[in-house]
Amino acid sequence: MIEYTKELNLLVRPAVEKTYKRLDEENRGYLMGGKMQTVEIMEETLESESNEIALYFAMSRKAEEEGFTEIAQYLKEIAMDEAWHAAEFAMLLGKIKDTASNLETMLEDEIKTEKEKEEAAKVAISEGNDNAFRVFTWSMYGERNHKEGIKKALSKLREKVKSKTTHH
Ligand SMILES: [Fe+2]
Ligand SMILES: [Fe+2]
Repeated sequence: MIEYTKELNLLVRPAVEKTYKRLDEENRGYLMGGKMQTVEIMEETLESESNEIALYFAMSRKAEEEGFTEIAQYLKEIAMDEAWHAAEFAMLLGKIKDTASNLETMLEDEIKTEKEKEEAAKVAISEGNDNAFRVFTWSMYGERNHKEGIKKALSKLREKVKSKTTHH
């Protein structure tokens, strides 16, 4: 068994090393040429995975309305899978920092999106789109709650850090 593995190793290693060398040269080529193909694809993937989360959640609700409880549950599970795929790419792309920084980033984001939803609701009502007005308004309150919640989380986190540093 050991002999066999050794032989196989000898047989396979040159091919593997050759492949690694080629990949390495190609990667260097991308970097030198400023071609960040992988990063671009990851950005696009993050977008498409994020879209899928929304679609699967909406489809799950539809399935529930139509009485397909099990399918609804499964679609929700897929939505969560897509969320984790998206999360992995967000991490790979360096969008995730330490918790304090993350909360600060998202606090700004929630403040911005709350205002954007308010503006969007105004546009919707002026165009007579009552359903869009309703959903923009509903999600505006959601963003407001997120904003307040993140503020609380941030001050809790800062208190904790403070008490840690003053104890020493
Ligand atoms: Fe996915
Ligand atoms: Fe939000």
